[in-house]
Amino acid sequence: MKNIKEVKVSLGERSYPVYIGKGLLSRVGKLFNLSRRVLVLTDRGVPKEYAEAVADACREPLTVTVKDGEGSKSLATYEEILTKMLRAGFTRGDCVVAVGGGVVGDLAGFVASSYMRGIDFYNIPTTLLSAVDASVGGKVAVNLSGIKNAVGAFYQPRGVLCDPSLLSTLPARQVSAGLAEALKMAVTLDASLFSLFENGDPIEDLEQVIAACVKIKASVVEKDEREGGLRRVLNFGHTIGHGIESRAGIEERENGLYHGECVALGMLPMSSSDVRARLLKIFNKFSLPTVSPVAPDSIFEALSHDKKAEGKFINAIFVNEIGTYEEKKIMPEELLTLAREVYL
Ligand code: GLY
Repeated sequence: MKNIKEVKVSLGERSYPVYIGKGLLSRVGKLFNLSRRVLVLTDRGVPKEYAEAVADACREPLTVTVKDGEGSKSLATYEEILTKMLRAGFTRGDCVVAVGGGVVGDLAGFVASSYMRGIDFYNIPTTLLSAVDASVGGKVAVNLSGIKNAVGAFYQPRGVLCDPSLLSTLPARQVSAGLAEALKMAVTLDASLFSLFENGDPIEDLEQVIAACVKIKASVVEKDEREGGLRRVLNFGHTIGHGIESRAGIEERENGLYHGECVALGMLPMSSSDVRARLLKIFNKFSLPTVSPVAPDSIFEALSHDKKAEGKFINAIFVNEIGTYEEKKIMPEELLTLAREVYL
């Protein structure tokens, strides 16, 4: 088909295409096998026309709309959805389609991974953050006892459809937060993508940014699907970022920070001073935060007990030069020192 970029994630019999192109949502019935019972999972924050367009292309759709926000990634919501599927007579030959951002994708994927021991799953990301990262690679999960993604699986989708025109209704701040995840990949793995951030305007060509990120993500996941090593590079900025998020995230307080904004801040202490200076210029350009709203000691306090365990090293990703990275084992206290140096 014309105007479609297709990136293949090659994982043997679990390989799948990621279709990228404006207007693709209208072709969903041609790209995915929806001639069966289909659970269309979305949330209240997603324009309802998107899930409706998918449902219209299905033979027997069951649309479930959960509350938006991390709270829906719970065992209770998971059980409610499974129960609805059972009552509607879903069998092993049926499938799940996620229409939403990271929360919907994670929840829908986990439902698909476990219903009747696993049924087909398709993902249609509607946030930039999910399009460039979370929708590809098969990490699916729900939270448990306040621990993010404590229960989950590696369960690859059968296909991902990414229609950049769905992102046009996103507020500018959410687009910037999504760009931070793309920037994370550029800083560590793709100097030419970084140069687009530094010298050009990635927002003008989101399709190109998404395609570049999906290619990077596919190549990382193909080499290390279950995060034994290489895939950890995608966690650049996340250790300190999660610490900030758990104190000042959008779920924690009014006017809190989005995940991508916390990741942006989390990259700063893990970068050389040259890289940090270049990142700060880019953050200013896209109105990403440049100063942590959380004091370094509080960030340290917020790290999981496991990360702080005495004598236990943390695998951390550092960047000295754009397009390269180094994984080092450091003590949690060293993270605190780095955060103090950068944020105070
Ligand atoms: N979001 C990081 C990963 O999929 O590994």
